[in-house]
Amino acid sequence: MGSMRGNHQLLSKVATNDEHGEDSLYFDGWKAYDKNPFHLTKNPTGVIQMGLAENQLSFDLIEKWISKNPEASICTREGVKAFRDIAIFQDYHGLPEFRNAVAKFMGRVRGDRVKFDPNRIVMSGGATGANETIMFCLADPGDAFLVPTPYYPAFDRDLRWRVGVKLLPVICDSSNDFKITKQALENAYEKAMEANIRVKGLIITNPSNPLGTMLDKPTLKTLVNFINKKNIHLVCDEIYAATIFAGAPDFVSVSEVVQEVENCNMDLIHIVYSLSKDLGLPGFRVGIVYSYNDGVVSCARKMSSFGLVSSQTQYMLASMLSDDDFVERFLSESSRRLANRHKLFTEGLQQVGITCLNSNAGLFFWMDLRPLLNEPTTEAETALWRVIIADVKLNVSPGSSFHCSEPGWFRVCFANMDDPTVLVALERIRDFVDQKKGGGEAAPPQQKKKRWDKNLRLSFKARICDESVLSLSPHSPIPHSPMVLART
Ligand SMILES: Cc1ncc(COP(=O)(O)O)c(C=O)c1O
Repeated sequence: MGSMRGNHQLLSKVATNDEHGEDSLYFDGWKAYDKNPFHLTKNPTGVIQMGLAENQLSFDLIEKWISKNPEASICTREGVKAFRDIAIFQDYHGLPEFRNAVAKFMGRVRGDRVKFDPNRIVMSGGATGANETIMFCLADPGDAFLVPTPYYPAFDRDLRWRVGVKLLPVICDSSNDFKITKQALENAYEKAMEANIRVKGLIITNPSNPLGTMLDKPTLKTLVNFINKKNIHLVCDEIYAATIFAGAPDFVSVSEVVQEVENCNMDLIHIVYSLSKDLGLPGFRVGIVYSYNDGVVSCARKMSSFGLVSSQTQYMLASMLSDDDFVERFLSESSRRLANRHKLFTEGLQQVGITCLNSNAGLFFWMDLRPLLNEPTTEAETALWRVIIADVKLNVSPGSSFHCSEPGWFRVCFANMDDPTVLVALERIRDFVDQKKGGGEAAPPQQKKKRWDKNLRLSFKARICDESVLSLSPHSPIPHSPMVLART
């Protein structure tokens, strides 16, 4: 392999710059997991992957649907008659039945309070591709987007790296549970003006990654009014729109709020969506750009040639998403399982005095380890993270990698593993906290294995485990693949 110095002359600026954002603790955690992945029986002292926002809790429901509907796949005896039509070249508009089904699903997920126009559905390679595409449509290199902190780390790659957009933080903190305020928006905007940077928009994730919280209607209205006043764009990444826990309030989409804001310029409003989280299908790479701006729809559609969803996937999903009974059952069961898993985890942490930000959505929670820091600095947070990954063997992601302004917060993913693994993770955290309280160092998992095994068995009996999840996720951890490294 050539040296990077040599490559600086040989390769493009994009290929050799560091704007991909991968030099971060977020990805270092991935590498640590990759080197020593936990397995309940084959490698019980390995690193548990809690940095992966994947929804593996309801695979069984999808598997059942696939088995019952073999004609939906063109690679089955029942479906092969559609093979030729689907295998030939598809234009970038996508299959009409796919766009119709996705538009209907997007409406259903938002309580059918808004309708989505299938003609505005633009395909993309996951929300990753959708976010980049929308940036290509809205901003030039050097332009900026405001983004509330803490934010999804891969935005650094998806929005900045190839497009050349700058990301300017809108600082939010725990004093008001990380809510986005008008003042914080104004401060960030003013700062950009002073630095002579052109702000083209504001991008948010709702529900939030990493917080797991949903924006309420008044906050969304504040955002919509703010961007209208400044005449800048609002991009809402709503990838977790249906990843809401049972019993939580309804998710409110920007698409609802814009109907209630007087004189909202709809040309400024754009939604990014994907089936990676709500259906747990990140491998299918189904991303959507939904814009109310005709020029953006037209441009994004041309750009979608670079990242179309395979026609085979479109065909299968068109059929699945048109099955109303299935969609109803899936959404309610998925919400129930997510709520149970979240409860199991956060209550377990509460028992050892660890609190988390109140949340009701997403595949993660925001854990408050500020009391365990030696001092309130990023360095102390990093030091604590190193101990957690090296000794406790948990890959949780430190707040600094989400650009959090306050040290001591960690994102913990909870839906990419089975219940036995959750219990091991909880036990490790409990032991670690006990050690910390006792003033000692964390002993490596090997030395504690016996005690853990015993505790595990005890706690297993005592706990109400979700049987369906247990029996349907026998593998722990997920089989490793090189793709995993690139996922977030
Ligand atoms: C907020 C957010 N946007 C986009 C993505 C990327 O999703 P996809 O797998 O659809 O590219 C993720 C994945 O974690 C995410 O959390």
